Amino acid sequence: MLDNYSRNINYLRLSITDRCNLRCFYCLPRQGWVKLPAREILSYEEMLRLSRVAVQVGIRKIRVTGGEPLVRRGVAPFLEQLHRIRGLEKICLTTNGVLLAEMAADLYRIGLRHINVSLDTLKPERYVEITGSDQLAVVLAGLEKAAALGFHPIKINFVVLRGINEDEVVDFALFSRENPFQVRFIEFMPTVSREKWSSHFLPMSVVRQRLKVLGEPQPVARIATAGPAQIVRLPNYRGELGFIQAVSEHHCPSCNRLRLTADGRLRPCLFQAQEVDLKGPLRWGAGDEELGLIFRKAVALKGLGHRFASPATPLDCRPMVSIGG
Ligand code: 5AD
Ligand code: SF4
Repeated sequence: MLDNYSRNINYLRLSITDRCNLRCFYCLPRQGWVKLPAREILSYEEMLRLSRVAVQVGIRKIRVTGGEPLVRRGVAPFLEQLHRIRGLEKICLTTNGVLLAEMAADLYRIGLRHINVSLDTLKPERYVEITGSDQLAVVLAGLEKAAALGFHPIKINFVVLRGINEDEVVDFALFSRENPFQVRFIEFMPTVSREKWSSHFLPMSVVRQRLKVLGEPQPVARIATAGPAQIVRLPNYRGELGFIQAVSEHHCPSCNRLRLTADGRLRPCLFQAQEVDLKGPLRWGAGDEELGLIFRKAVALKGLGHRFASPATPLDCRPMVSIGG
C-alpha cells in the first residue's frame, strides 16, 4: 500500500493489550494513566479479521506488541491463527521476557520464530530501578530457553538512558558476541515526560563512539519489511548490533508502518495524535472492503516527519504502553 510520499506501507504493529507486568519508568506514566476497560479491547476474533483485511490491502508483516502481549490470556492460540493467514509473510512478537521461559515452548510449537525482548540492564538492582520489579533472572532464563529452542532472530531492545544504563553499552554489545542475539541500541524517545527525556537522553553518536573499542563494524543489508534499525556485525560475533536513532535521525522517509491500538484505532504515526477508528465500523458490521478503505485512509494521513526533539513540540504521543512501541 503506497502512501502519499511513495512509501510502501507493509508493516503493522498490533497491540493486543495495554496491560503490562512491568512498570518501566520511561514507558508508563507514574500517574494519570488509565487502563482501557475490557470491552474496549478488541477480541482475538476481531483482531484476526482486521489482520486479514490488512493483508488484503498490502500488509506483509505483523508485529504483536502490548503493553506486554504475553499477559493476555489465549495469546498462543491467537498467534497460531495469525500464522494461518495467507499472504502474511512474517509475524514477530515484542515482549519484556518475563513470561518467556514459561511460554517459549508453546510459542515455538505454534510456529512463532521472531521475538524481540526488551532488556535495558544486566544488573539485578538496576533492573528493579528501571522496571519496578525483580525479574532479571527470569528474563535471562527466558532468553536462554528461546535460543535453545531455536527461535531466530532473537532481538534485544536496549533503550540507552544517560546516567542510568549508559555504562552497560559495551557489556550489551559483548552479550551479542557470546549469544546469537541482535542487540539493538534505541534512542530514548520523549513519550512520557520531557523532563525525564532531557535528563536521560543520550544520542546514538555517543553510543557508536563508545563501541569503537570493540573493532570496526561491518554493515548488514536491509530487507524490504525491515524496521528502522541500522544493523552491523563485528568480526567473530555470534550475534549482531542494531542502532535505532529514533530521535536524532529521521526514519520518517523510509517509514513502512502502521499501528493498531488494542482498542481498535489505527495510528498513522507514533508522534501524530491523530487516530482512525476501526473498532466502531467493525462492530457496526462493516464489510472487508469498507474496513480496507479505512486502512487506506489511515495510510493517507501519514505525515513525513516529526519534530519531537524540539522543546517547542507538544507531546502528542499516548504512553508507549498503550501503543506498543
Ligand atoms: N523510548 C524508546 N523506546 C521505548 N520503548 C518504550 N518506551 C520507550 C521510549 N520512551 C520500547 C521498549 C520496548 C519497545 C516496545 O518500546 O523498550 O522494547
Ligand atoms: Fe516496560 Fe514494555 Fe511494560 Fe512498557 S510495555 S512498562 S517498556 S515492559
